[in-house]
Amino acid sequence: MAVPLLDLRLQYVQVKDDVQRRMAALCDSQQFILGAPVEEIEAAVRDYTGCGHAIGMSSGTDALLAILMAMGIGRGDAVITTPYTFFATAGCIQRVGAEPVFVDIDSATYNMDPAKLEECLRKKCRSGPDGRLVTSAGNRVRAIMPVHLFGCVCDMDRISALAAEFDIPVIEDAAQAIGADYPSKDTKTLRAGAIGEVSYFSFFPSKNLGAFGDAGMATCRDEGLAAEIRLMRNHGMGAQYHHEKVGGNFRLDALQAVILSAKLPHLDAWHAARRRNAALYREEFTKLGLLDRITFPVEPYAASGAKNHHVYHQYVVRVPHRDKVRAALTAAGIGCAVYYPVPLHLQECFASLGHSEGDFPESEKAARESLALPIYPELTPEQVREVAGALAKALMS
Ligand SMILES: Cc1ncc(COP(=O)(O)O)c(C=O)c1O
Repeated sequence: MAVPLLDLRLQYVQVKDDVQRRMAALCDSQQFILGAPVEEIEAAVRDYTGCGHAIGMSSGTDALLAILMAMGIGRGDAVITTPYTFFATAGCIQRVGAEPVFVDIDSATYNMDPAKLEECLRKKCRSGPDGRLVTSAGNRVRAIMPVHLFGCVCDMDRISALAAEFDIPVIEDAAQAIGADYPSKDTKTLRAGAIGEVSYFSFFPSKNLGAFGDAGMATCRDEGLAAEIRLMRNHGMGAQYHHEKVGGNFRLDALQAVILSAKLPHLDAWHAARRRNAALYREEFTKLGLLDRITFPVEPYAASGAKNHHVYHQYVVRVPHRDKVRAALTAAGIGCAVYYPVPLHLQECFASLGHSEGDFPESEKAARESLALPIYPELTPEQVREVAGALAKALMS
């Protein structure tokens, strides 16, 4: 039996009536730019995540660009993130003229390792002439951007404590983690997008909450920063045709907004189905005796009681001889993918940063070993067993 990595048609049938009803109303109104549909999903995301302000954007990438522009981050500045993430995280930093500074990931979670962040802040950076932290290249550290990769929130208590000590704001890259909970020991359970000073989500179609094309959202605590991001979203325009800043066209389409509004009420059930599939994979892999041959995703907050302690945007295992295993699964009709084969410090476009192989060993190892298996909510138990069986066969061959 072939099992695709993702089949969005199975999700569409669940929301089809509501989506079509909302789209029909929008078409009747012929009001496609901003307005009530965008405000509705912004309010719903605010309620769902507990963030202070939500600003609908044309994509996750554009949300990050607008955030960096609104924070005035550019030439002479630096932002700390990890090299094991989707390109946009660091691409946007470089695009506004700032320096992406990488710290390695934790091998179990694939998220920013707080110990490596501490080393970077204390040892690799130094105090500049005005007492602010600068990188070895002399750029001022303006933000720390942890990435909640694959749907599990980073160790935010430790990251936030370091950020507070060095007085640096945190930008959460929550592109893959809408709805993911974080049981903070310092406060209470918080949700991705409502932990750092500012954050963003991607609603790329394959995300847990996906639009019918590109879409995203920025969230933040501070009203002033929210106003600045809104300004950047619409050409820096305050009063009509009066431009206070140079921004861009980063607006969320009303058409995407109505689709997201139809889907959001289902999201928690979809997250739960993804966790159920992850539990079934573990059960099957145990039965098949694969426990010492593959490394499973960890669930660091499972014992906390937080509902969405992991939202499994991706279900990523580590396997020996990954490319061989991947080829065998593909030949057996099992959808699988590698997120991400080349860590960002080794990407051609970042050659000017001067990194080489060995600089971030955990990211490089993850890039060699990781393999994402189907995890979408509508996957049946039979399909999960099929994938597990095919993986067992591929590992034995
Ligand atoms: C971690 C991460 N950051 C940023 C983005 C960019 O989002 P978008 O594709 O909506 O521009 C993505 C999307 O894939 C992502 O996974």
